[in-house]
Amino acid sequence: MCSAFLCFIKRTVLAAMVCWMLLLTEVQFVLADENERWGIGQTATPEEIQAWDIAIRPDGKGLPPGTGNVEEGKTLYLQRCALCHGAEGKGGLNDKLVGRLPSGEFPFAEPGAPKKTIGNYWPYATTLFDYIRRTMPYQNPGSLTDSEVYSVTAYLLYLNEIIAADLQLSANNLATIKMPAVVRFVPDDRLQTSNVR
Ligand code: HEC
Repeated sequence: MCSAFLCFIKRTVLAAMVCWMLLLTEVQFVLADENERWGIGQTATPEEIQAWDIAIRPDGKGLPPGTGNVEEGKTLYLQRCALCHGAEGKGGLNDKLVGRLPSGEFPFAEPGAPKKTIGNYWPYATTLFDYIRRTMPYQNPGSLTDSEVYSVTAYLLYLNEIIAADLQLSANNLATIKMPAVVRFVPDDRLQTSNVR
């Protein structure tokens, strides 16, 4: 025999345990037989996963092999990019890509603010490579080889006065390029980052 209160606690604990076991069984069941169960979809092959797994981190993790330079980048840029971004990366139909500002200023929120460009707003050169590789040219993304992406990236960095004209760009040095705008960003310390590493 137990008091009414203890019985209540025991029953509650027992019910919680039963629910938890049922939930675990269900999760295992769903993971094991999802395709069979619903009769839709198919398990992605390693090749299919690899085709989507193209994210590049700021520190350069994920950068592909290949190499490019300013000279080849200029030729490619004029053929594939200038149409929308202007011959010098400014004054085109779409986003202005070239421009620098003194590093202490942050005028972007003000009315009539200068346009954000690679030189005045992008904190990592690796992100520029990643962005161009996955999205540009706008009407035909994915059509550039990795070496061509290194070349147009080099040309845009050169136009923004970030690298010298003779730098050969590759996975070895792209992450080491210090972008002038990196000082405009601060790490987000509101998160418990130890939980998500
Ligand atoms: C048909 C027009 C078109 C062509 C060609 C084109 N772009 Fe773009 N580009 C755009 C548009 C539109 C955007 C803005 C996209 C958005 O905000 O979602 C953009 C954005 C960008 C940005 C980001 C700008 C920023 O600071 O937000 C970069 C970098 C860029 N393009 C590089 C290139 C390169 C390199 C090429 C050539 C390989 C290229 N683009 C070709 C239309 C084009």
